[in-house]
Amino acid sequence: ADVKKIAVIAGDGIGPEVVAEAIKVMKSTEELFGLQFEFEHGLFGGIAIDEKGTPLPEDTLDMCQRADAVLLGAVGGPKWDNNTKELRPETGLLGIRKALGLFSNIRPAVVFDCLKEASTLKPEVLEGTDLIVVRELTGGIYFGEKFRREGEQGEEAVDTCVYNVHEVERIVRQAFDVAMKRSKRLASVDKANVLETSRLWRETVNRIAPEYPEVELEHVLVDNCAMQLLRRPASFDVIVTENMFGDILSDEAAMLTGSIGMLASASLGEGSYGLYEPVHGSAPDIAGQGIANPIATILSVALMYRLTFGYEEAANAIEAAVKQVLDEGHRTSDIAADRAQAISTTKMGDLIVDALTKLQVKA
Ligand code: NAD
Ligand code: IPM
Ligand code: MN
Repeated sequence: ADVKKIAVIAGDGIGPEVVAEAIKVMKSTEELFGLQFEFEHGLFGGIAIDEKGTPLPEDTLDMCQRADAVLLGAVGGPKWDNNTKELRPETGLLGIRKALGLFSNIRPAVVFDCLKEASTLKPEVLEGTDLIVVRELTGGIYFGEKFRREGEQGEEAVDTCVYNVHEVERIVRQAFDVAMKRSKRLASVDKANVLETSRLWRETVNRIAPEYPEVELEHVLVDNCAMQLLRRPASFDVIVTENMFGDILSDEAAMLTGSIGMLASASLGEGSYGLYEPVHGSAPDIAGQGIANPIATILSVALMYRLTFGYEEAANAIEAAVKQVLDEGHRTSDIAADRAQAISTTKMGDLIVDALTKLQVKA
C-alpha cells in the first residue's frame, strides 16, 4: 500500500489527549484495512510559543505542507490569554488555515439515536437531525484589518469584515456540491438586512444557484437561523455561511448532538488535501484529567479517510464502531447521564478500537 504522511500537531490542553486516541484508531486500521501511515509530530499553539517563541513555527508549517493530511488537536489556554496577537495560540490556528489555503470548513452534526437523552433539548425535537455546517474559514472579520486608535471619546478598536466575490463563490460552490451528495437542501445564512458583505454573499449565492437546479435553496438570516436550529434542527441539511457565523452556529449545532466533544471537522481547499480537527477547543477546565471525549477527533479521522484518502470502507467502519460503543452505553463524562459511570479518554479509545476490530472480523 502507499504510505500516507500524516502531520500531527496535537497542541495544548486536551489536544494531545484526544489526538493520542485518534492515532490509536488510525494504527488499528492499518492492519484491519491494509492501510499505512507515517506520523510526524510538530509543535503548534501555546506549547510552540513556550518552546520556540511563535505559535506556528516554520518547520511545523513545512511539515504540514509536506504531509498528505494534518491531524490537529486544539490550541489555547489561560496561560497565553493575555499575550499580544502575535503570541497567541489562536493566531497560529488562523495562520495555518490561511497558509494551507483551507477556506472550507465542514462540520457535520449528527444526532446518534442513543444520545438523544444526552442533549439539553427534547429528544422529539432532535429526531432525525443530520446536518452539515459549511463554514468559510479564511476570510471575513477574522482576517480583516484590526487596529486600535484614539477616537473622540478615547480608545477605539476596529475589526473589519471583508469578502471578495471569489472567496464567496468558491465556498458556496463547495456547499452546493456537498448538498448534491446529500438531501439537496441548502440554507445560506447571512445578515443581508444589515451587512454589505452579507449582501454580496447573497447575490453571489443567487447567481450560482441556477447551476444547481436540483438543490432547494433557502436564505436564512443568522439570528433567525440560531433560533431555527433549536426549533427545527432536523429540517436542515447543509448550512453554508461566513467565517464568524459558522463558528458560532457550529458550536450551537454541537449541542444538538449532546456535547461539543462529539463534533468533528474537516478543513479543505480546492483539492483533497485537508486538515482534520475536533470543533472543540483545548478545554483547559478538564485538561490533564484524562476525561475528555475523544470521539470528535476520532470522527475527524473518519472524515480524513473519506475526504482526503477515499478510504470509504474504513471511514464507515470507524463511524459504525463509534455508534456501537455508544449503543452499548459507554460514555465519557460530557455525555454520561450518570457521571459516576463515565469512562476515561483512553478507555473510550480502546473500546472503539475493539469494536472496529470485531466489526471488521465479522465483515
Ligand atoms: P472549549 O471547546 O475548549 O471548551 C468548552 C467547554 O466544553 C468546556 O467546559 C470543556 O470542558 C468542554 N469540552 C470541550 N471539548 C471537550 C471534550 N472533548 N470532552 C469533554 N468536554 C469538552 O472552548 P473554550 O473553553 O471556549 O476555549 C478554551 C481554549 O480553546 C481557548 O483558548 C480557545 O481559544 C481555544 N479554542 C481552540 C480551538 C481549536 O484549537 N480549534 C477551538 C475552540 C477554542
Ligand atoms: C474554532 C475555534 C477557532 C475559531 C479559534 C480558537 C480561533 O473557535 O476552530 O472553531 O474561531 O475558528
Ligand atoms: Mn469555534
